[in-house]
Amino acid sequence: MEDKGISKKEVFDDLKEFKKQDMNYRSGRILGSMCTCPHPVGVEAYTMFLESNLGDPGLFKGTKAMEDDVITMLGELLGKRDVCGHIITGGTEANIMAMRAARNSARILKGIRDPEIIVPKSAHFSFKKAADMLCLKLREADLDENYCMDMDSVKELLTDKTVAVVGVAGTTELGKVDPIEELSKICYKKNIYLHVDAAFAGFSIPFLNEMGYNFPKFDFNLPGVCSITIDPHKMGLAPIPTGGILFREKRYLKAMSVETPYLTEDRQSTIVGTRTGASTAATWALMKYMGREGYRKVAGKCMELTGTLAQGIRESGFKLVTEPQLNIVAFQSGNMSPDEIADLLKEKGWAVSIASYPRAIRIIVMPHLKEEHIKTFLMDLKDINHGS
Ligand SMILES: Cc1ncc(COP(=O)(O)O)c(C=O)c1O
Repeated sequence: MEDKGISKKEVFDDLKEFKKQDMNYRSGRILGSMCTCPHPVGVEAYTMFLESNLGDPGLFKGTKAMEDDVITMLGELLGKRDVCGHIITGGTEANIMAMRAARNSARILKGIRDPEIIVPKSAHFSFKKAADMLCLKLREADLDENYCMDMDSVKELLTDKTVAVVGVAGTTELGKVDPIEELSKICYKKNIYLHVDAAFAGFSIPFLNEMGYNFPKFDFNLPGVCSITIDPHKMGLAPIPTGGILFREKRYLKAMSVETPYLTEDRQSTIVGTRTGASTAATWALMKYMGREGYRKVAGKCMELTGTLAQGIRESGFKLVTEPQLNIVAFQSGNMSPDEIADLLKEKGWAVSIASYPRAIRIIVMPHLKEEHIKTFLMDLKDINHGS
C-alpha cells in the first residue's frame, strides 16, 4: 500500500479493468457453476444491511428477528416449522457445522471419542474438510448403478463409532437424490445422526414437487433427519455468500456452543464470529418477494431448459451419463475426452466443468441461462463433434 491514496476515479477505473477479466452470469457463458445472477431485490436488501453483524445479535435485533423468520420459513419449506439454525456463508460451512453438531452430540450422549462419518462417494468435498478439521474418520459408501448412495454399502460401513451418516439431495456432480427415506429408517432405529446435504436442491425440490414432480422424501418429514443444509445462494437467487443450516432440535446447536464473554449473546454455535446480516436480509426479502409461486417458476424453467439441453446433447451425438433428475446434465463422447471437449468449448467462450465420477462434461442449468444460450451452445457443441 502506498503512503498517499489515489483519487476515487482512479480507484474505480482500476476496478473496472479488474472486472473486465471476470466472467459474468448474464452472458450465459457460465455453464459449470451452482451460483447465479443474484436477484435485484436480494441485492438491494443485502446492501441495506451491510453493517449488521449477526455475531453480535443484541446490537442488530431487527436482523436477528429476520434470521429467525428466515429459519422458520426454510423449516416450513423442508417439513418442520419449528427448526433452529443460522444463515451462514454457504454449503461448506453448513456441512462443517452439521458434522460438528453430530460429533459433539455423540461425545456427550454416547461417549464416542474416535468418531467416524459415512458419506456417499458423491458427497461434496466439504465433508473432507469437515473430517480433517474435526478429526473424523471419513468412510465413503459406494454408489449404485444410478449414482445414488448404495444402502448395502452404508450398512457395511456402520460401526459403533459412527456419529453421522450423510445423504445428499441433489449431488454436486450429477444432481442425484440419495435414498434418504431408507437412511432415515436406519439412523432413527440405531439413534445415529442423519444429515441431509440439500445445498443445491433444497430450493428446488419442494417447488418442483408442488408442480407435480415426484421426488423421493428427503426432509424433516422423515423422523431420522437431524439437520439439513440449504443454500439460498444457489437456487434461492441470493447474493454470495448465503448458506443455511437447519437443525431439528436446539440441543444440536447447544452441543457446539461456546461462551462469548464480551458480546451481546451469552453463547455462540456458529464457526465464524463476525457474521454478515446482509445475507439474511437478502434471503428474507427474496422469500417474501418471490413467494412459492416465484420459486416454482424459476425451478420449473430450469428443468424445462434441462430437458431441451439434454435432448440437444443426445442429438449432437453425445451420450448422457444418466437421465437428469435435477437441472444438471452430464455427458461424454465416444471419441473425445471430457478435457478435450471442455478445451474446445472454452475456445468458443463456454465455461463448463468436468465431473470426476464418472469423468464427464457437467452443465448446471442455473436461472441465468436462457433459451438462446442453450440454442447457441448446442450449435457450438454440434460443430465440435463434427470437427469444425
Ligand atoms: C451438494 C453440495 N453441498 C455443499 C456444497 C458447498 O457449497 P459452498 O460452495 O457454498 O460452500 C456444494 C457446492 O457446490 C454442493 O453442491
